Amino acid sequence: MSAKDAFYITTPIYYVNDVPHIGHAYTTLACDVMARFKRLDGYDVMFLTGTDEHGQKVEKSAAAAGKTPLEFCDQVSQRFRELADFMNYSHDDFIRTTEERHKIACQALWKKLEENGHIYLDKYAGWYSVRDEAFYGENELIEVEGSEKLAPTGAPVEWVEEESYFFRLSAFEDKLLDFYESLDPTVLPKSRKNEVKSFVEGGLRDLSVSRTSFKWGVPVPGNDKHIMYVWIDALTNYMTAAGYPDMESSTFQKFWPADIHMVGKDILRFHAVYWPAFLMGAGIEPAKRVFAHGWWTNEGQKISKSLGNVIDPFQIVDEFGLDQVRYFLMREVPFGNDGDFNKQAIINRINSDLANDLGNLAQRSLSMIFKNCDGVMPTPGDNTEADNAILSALDGLLPKVRDHMDVQAFNKALETIWKVVSDANGYFACEEPWALKKTDPERMGTVLYTTAEIIRQIGIITQPIMPDSASKLIDLLKVPASERGFDKLGADHRLASGTKMEKPEGVFPRYVAENE
Ligand code: MSP
Repeated sequence: MSAKDAFYITTPIYYVNDVPHIGHAYTTLACDVMARFKRLDGYDVMFLTGTDEHGQKVEKSAAAAGKTPLEFCDQVSQRFRELADFMNYSHDDFIRTTEERHKIACQALWKKLEENGHIYLDKYAGWYSVRDEAFYGENELIEVEGSEKLAPTGAPVEWVEEESYFFRLSAFEDKLLDFYESLDPTVLPKSRKNEVKSFVEGGLRDLSVSRTSFKWGVPVPGNDKHIMYVWIDALTNYMTAAGYPDMESSTFQKFWPADIHMVGKDILRFHAVYWPAFLMGAGIEPAKRVFAHGWWTNEGQKISKSLGNVIDPFQIVDEFGLDQVRYFLMREVPFGNDGDFNKQAIINRINSDLANDLGNLAQRSLSMIFKNCDGVMPTPGDNTEADNAILSALDGLLPKVRDHMDVQAFNKALETIWKVVSDANGYFACEEPWALKKTDPERMGTVLYTTAEIIRQIGIITQPIMPDSASKLIDLLKVPASERGFDKLGADHRLASGTKMEKPEGVFPRYVAENE
C-alpha cells in the first residue's frame, strides 16, 4: 500500500490578551472541518492551533492584570485549550510561542536569514500600533478630529524611534509576484489575491523586525538587547510544529510546506506577503495556500468589546447545541465573505435544514423499519427508476463535495449535500412507504432500505461538520466504526440487510424558545 498523502493545516495562533470569541472559534472550526474531511478522505493530516504569547500587547495586558507575562499567558492559553475541547476540534498539536521548541525555531530562522544577507541593523523611525502589532507608513494613517492619527484599522499609533534590525522585504517583490501565480490558487478568495498582488506591486519597504523597548519575546541571537518582532516570532510557529529547524525530520519532510494557513482577512498581509518572503529568504518553500475568511457581525453590528456585543462561543453552544452552531457557521455564509450572526437565522437553520429535512427523514424511515420490519434492516427487491435516480445522485455526491472542499467552499459543499437530502425527502413522500405496508411489503422494504442507505451516506459525509450528530445517525444503522471513511461512500458499498436495529432516537431536535 502506498503511503498516505499528507495534509497540513493551521489556524492563526491567538493573542492571549483577549478571551476566546466567535472569531477564534470560526477560524479554528473551518480548519477542523477541513482536517476531518481530509482524514476521512484518506490523508495523513496534521492540524495545528495554539496561542501567540509574546509582544508588547501581551506584556501590557499582563501588567494591567497584575501578573507576570508567563502567569498571564498560562491562564489565557488554557482558556483557548478549553474552547478547543468544547468545540470538539480535532487538532493534533497546540503550540504556545513561549515553548522552548519555538524559541529554537525562531532563532534558527533568524540566523538563516542573517546568513543569507537578508537582515541588517539600522534605525527605525516611524509609526507603530501596539494593538495591531504593526508598523504603518505616514501615508497609511488616518487623521481624526483633534489631530490624533490612527492606523487604517482604527487602532492608536505611537511614534517609535529606536535601533532595529530590518528584513530586506523590498528584495522580494518579483519573487512574491511570481509565487502568487506559481500554484493556483495560492491566495483565496480571488479578490484577496488581487488585493495582495496590488499591495506588492505598489512597492515594498524593508520591514523592521526587532524592538528594543520591551523584553517579552524571543531575543535576537547574538544581540539580546533586541527582541524579535512579534510577527516573525508568531509566523514561525507553523514551522516549529513541523519540526523546524530539523528539516530532515520525517515530520518536516512530510508536512512542509503547509497546505493551508487559514486566517481572518485582517491578517492576510502578514501571511501572504511577509511570511512567504521570510521563507524565501531562508530558502524554504512557502505554504501552498493562504485562505482569508470574512468577519462576523452580531445582529448587523460590528463586534467590539466597547459595544459589549462580543459573541461568546461557550454561550451560543449552550443555547443552540454544538453541532447546530458548527453547521450554521459553515452553512450560512460563503466562506470568505462577511456574515451576520443573528438568532433568527440560526433558529431557521436548526429547525429547517437539521430538524425537518435531515432529522425527520431519518426518524420517520428508521422508525418504520423498527415497527414494520421487526427492527431488522430489510432486503431490497428490484430497484425502480425512482430508486436508481436517488441512489445515483447519492453515489455521485463525494466528488462534487470534494471539489467544493478543495477551495474551502463549505457552504457550497453543504448545499450540494442538502440537495440530495431534499430529493430524498421528495422520494420518500412520493413512494409513500407507509401505504405499502399492506399492499406491497416488499416494495415498502426497498423504499425503506434505500432511504436508510441515503442516511448512511449522508451521515458519513457530514461527519466533518457535525461529528457527534453524524456519528449518532450512523450508530442508528449499526455501521461499524471501521466503515465510516469516505472509501465507503458510493455504489460499491451498501448497508447490510438483516442487521438488527434498536428503536431510533431523534438526532436533531427542533429549537424551541423558552417562552414558547
Ligand atoms: N496573533 C495573531 C495571529 C498570528 S498567526 C501567526 C492574531 N491573533 S488574534 O487573536 O487577534 O486572531 C484573531 C483571529 O480571529 C483572526 O483570524 C481574526 O481574523 C479572527 N477574528 C477576530 N474577530 C472576528 C470576527 N468578528 N469574525 C470572524 N473572525 C474574526 O491576529
